[in-house]
Parts: sequence; structure tokens; C-alpha cells
Amino acid sequence: MTDSGDRDFSVAVVVVAAGRGERLGADRPKALVELADEPLVVRAVRGVQAAAVASQVVVVAPHELAASFRQLFDESVEVVAGGDDRLASVQAGLAAITQPVDAVLVHDSARPLTPPEVFQRVVDALRAGALAVVPVVPLVDTVKQVDPAGVVERTVERSALVAAQTPQAGTFAVITDAYRRLGNGDAQAFTDDASVMEAANVQVETVAGDRRSLKITTPFDLLVAEAILAEGNPND
Ligand code: CTP
Ligand code: MG
Repeated sequence: MTDSGDRDFSVAVVVVAAGRGERLGADRPKALVELADEPLVVRAVRGVQAAAVASQVVVVAPHELAASFRQLFDESVEVVAGGDDRLASVQAGLAAITQPVDAVLVHDSARPLTPPEVFQRVVDALRAGALAVVPVVPLVDTVKQVDPAGVVERTVERSALVAAQTPQAGTFAVITDAYRRLGNGDAQAFTDDASVMEAANVQVETVAGDRRSLKITTPFDLLVAEAILAEGNPND
């Protein structure tokens, strides 16, 4: 048992950490890349624990590294082996939820600096009755639609567009049912959990995300994360 904020509303958090990190191009899987001397997955799990919302935490590790990932955490964190794409890894994490919970949050280990308030806003929305929730931030750049040659076809109206972060969540029934419906070959079509639930015709609500909850994708993002840490760790 880890900290549970509310005995009447129980939450499991699945931290997906089984990716290769090809765009980061490091000498190891992305979850083990260090930010200020600590692996991203350790920081991401600490962020989950700082939010104190979870009764169960499951880390989904690269298949061949599950045993070494287990050494990174105490026994309150479960570690399971992931799959070849994010969808398969989330499914492995969902399958490892053994306690009855009201809701499941899925968080990217590639987001090591998500402040506790983001987790709490997601859980508050679920507790208030949302079936599915995604934290979002406004787009800052003007968005263009271009043709295959890169020529602008039109400017997309930005006010209705937002960028989706994690943790993304559903009630236990909603998210497990939505993932159960997926077929083979769906991996490319769905890059996040909200889109899986959208495809199951679930209404997905939004809460405010946070710019500090950036996803480490390229080496530039690591520089930004170091700068954020220099201002004070949002998870302390
Ligand atoms: N993920 C996962 N299992 C996979 C692929 C991705 O658990 N087979 C996780 C990653 O570990 C990451 C999150 O999903 O926390 C978001 O994926 P992304 O940022 O694309 O990470 P990678 O797939 O590792 O990076 P890349 O696409 O550059 O290889
Ligand atoms: Mg990827």
C-alpha cells in the first residue's frame, strides 16, 4: 500500500516505461536515462507518490529489464514486463491491477516533472463523476495544415486545439473495457489513452495540465527539464 488520499475513491497508477527512446538516442532505454543523476522512471514514480493519490502503483518495464527495474523501487511498487508498443505496455499494466480500484491513471515515465497538482486535478475530476480525463495545455504556436510537399493548405483555428499530457485516466470499468476492445493493428492509430477511450465512445473531460509536465522525447527536452529542476523540483 502506498499513500491513499481518499479511502472512498481508490486509484491505481500505471507508469509506462517500456519504450526504447529512439528519438532521445541515448545509450540505454529512455526510462533509465538520468536527469540530475536520477533515472527518469525513478523521478516519474516519485511524482506519483508525491501526489498521494494511488493505492497501487505498477511500473511497466522493458521486457528484458523487468528484474533490474524492480531493484529501483521498494515493494510498494509492482514491476511488470511491457510490450512492443505503448498500447501493449498499457495493457500489461492494466492486467497487473489486482486490487479493486475505482479508477486507473496511466502516466508516461518520460514525464519526470509532473507536479502533484496535475494528478490531483485528474483524480478530482474522476471523483466528481468524469468517466475519462486528460490533462491538457494550450498550444502556443500557430498551427498550419500542409500538403505532402510542405506547402501550407490552411491555418488551423487554434482556440479549439489543446495538447494532451499524462496522467490520462478512466474509471476502472471504462478504461479496461476500452482497451479490451482493441484489435490487432491498432497500435499506430492510438498514441494515447484518451484516444482509446474516445474510440469506445466515452466522453473524455479535460483538466489543466502543466508546462513542467513535458515529455522527454529529444535531447533538447532534457535540457529544458534541467532548467525546470534548477528552478525547484515540482515533486519535492
Ligand atoms: N512506452 C512503453 N512501451 C512501449 C513504447 C512506449 O511503455 N513499447 C512508454 C514509454 O516508455 C514512454 C511513453 O510510453 O514513457 C511515451 O512514449 P514515447 O515518449 O514515444 O517513448 P519511447 O517510445 O521510448 O520513445 P521513442 O518513440 O523515441 O522510441
Ligand atoms: Mg514511442
